[in-house]
Amino acid sequence: MSELEIHLFPCRSDNYGVLVHDGDANLTLAIDTPETDAVRNALKERGWGLNYILTTHHHFDHVEGNEPLKKETGCMVVGPEGEADKIPAIDLAIGEEDEFEFGTRKITVISTPGHTISPNTYWIKDSNLLFTGDMLFAMGCGRLFEGTARMMWGSLQKIMALPRQTQIYCGHEYTLSNDEFALSVEPDNEELKNRVEEVRVARRAGIPTVPTELGRELETNVFLRAASPEIRERLGMQKAEDWQVFGEIRRLKDQG
Ligand SMILES: [Fe+2]
Repeated sequence: MSELEIHLFPCRSDNYGVLVHDGDANLTLAIDTPETDAVRNALKERGWGLNYILTTHHHFDHVEGNEPLKKETGCMVVGPEGEADKIPAIDLAIGEEDEFEFGTRKITVISTPGHTISPNTYWIKDSNLLFTGDMLFAMGCGRLFEGTARMMWGSLQKIMALPRQTQIYCGHEYTLSNDEFALSVEPDNEELKNRVEEVRVARRAGIPTVPTELGRELETNVFLRAASPEIRERLGMQKAEDWQVFGEIRRLKDQG
């Protein structure tokens, strides 16, 4: 079985589109359709058809191309069952622990409420791939538009329990905008300081900071580090629950 091919492409102002191609089965899926033309061009560039769209959540910059691309290609649109009424052209609604067959591989749904009320994160366990949409970013996490801090912390914990080598593809290039905030929350984190330097160099050169590896996020993403004694002390929350510390970090970032 050959490895899956991944094609990541920037679109809109700061979105990423992702195509996943199984060369053995000659199948291709798109994770979200942030911009119709960009997805169409990416498919053309690689010479791939489109068999499936896997939608993470209902925000417009993730579903714009669902209807036109389905019309053009006849692909199947898959999306979160808890938001099915808001996903354009949806054919199949799936949720927590459901499995979706892609060629010979299984894609597992992890329901991750918080950013919206019921987004799907898609996990291809055998290939160590995770597609988080807007729930988790490199050095960041999604804003709480529909869910609560407690819900989002529960979602993040599910992701944190996956293998450290998991490669994470998220929906936006926001990494640089998280650097100063992260350093203000955990200024003595040496790994974080190193990463911020790397991110600044990469972005100056126009290099994407996506994908990122879960192990790295666990060490340097302050939204996953509610248990860090340094962060707790800084926030004066030594005795708080982890979800409360997370909620405070999220609130501080929103204020900034
Ligand atoms: Fe979103």
